[in-house]
Amino acid sequence: TKPTLWAITGAAGQVGRHLRTTLGSQLGNLLLLDIIDPGPVPPNEKSLIVDLRDFNTVHAALEGVTGIIHLGGIADEADFADLVSANILGTHHVLEAARQHSIRRVVYASSNRATGFYPREGTISPEQPFRPDGLYGVSKAAAETLCRLYSDKFGLEIACLRIGSFEASPSTPRELSTWLSHDDCTRAFNAALAGDYQFTTYYAVSRNTRRWWDLEAGTRIGFHPQDDAENFAPEISGEPTRPQGGAFASPEYTLSR
Ligand code: NAI
Repeated sequence: TKPTLWAITGAAGQVGRHLRTTLGSQLGNLLLLDIIDPGPVPPNEKSLIVDLRDFNTVHAALEGVTGIIHLGGIADEADFADLVSANILGTHHVLEAARQHSIRRVVYASSNRATGFYPREGTISPEQPFRPDGLYGVSKAAAETLCRLYSDKFGLEIACLRIGSFEASPSTPRELSTWLSHDDCTRAFNAALAGDYQFTTYYAVSRNTRRWWDLEAGTRIGFHPQDDAENFAPEISGEPTRPQGGAFASPEYTLSR
């Protein structure tokens, strides 16, 4: 059988660097795509400088890959035109290249910020409507919608992971609810790589006592987070501000025009 080759977009970023070390051995060969150089790579990895905003480059880079872990883009509030081109058009380019090359599976790193305007009382599930807490959240919601379209219309298998707060440990009251530990991040992506689904959306969050997000959708495909931010609670004082997005949801939190 042909050896597998998984492409990781945004491979030089925080999540990409983590997944390369924890999933690299089981995924086989990795093709790292980013606009910045990821530095020296081990023998099973190859890196290419690729700007997701340029369809032709994305299309050429993805020829022959087994599947795609799509992490690349702008990971916070920014000028809306930049969010549209990197996150929305960039995701379209990845999906359209996947369709043209008959790449079966795409795992997309979405964000809890697509639903940051829900109140923090109660639990929400991925079936509820988007309520982005900013323009970044809008770009993630739009990209998730593109994923849904490419799965429904063209049959790609796609998982959208709404990542919480990926940190070594929680450090704010909000993160007692939103924390995604490094090990649970590996588990969340592992489930997306190995699970059986046509399309799924789930929150990639640790099993935090104070979490706001239902774990059911992830459980169905084998994501069983094990860490709990509560263990850090004694060192963290204060209450998270409302809504779920906290400070990200305030009118002042904007880096755009
Ligand atoms: P990061 O900012 O560390 O990594 C993103 C990578 O994408 C960077 O290496 C950057 O150079 C690359 N990139 C940006 N624009 C690009 C373009 N036009 N073409 C090619 N590459 C481009 O972000 P991080 O933390 O690793 O996040 C990865 C993904 O997960 C992002 O899509 C982010 O929105 C999402 N996410 C992350 C969370 C977190 O807590 N770290 C929370 C929720 C979502």
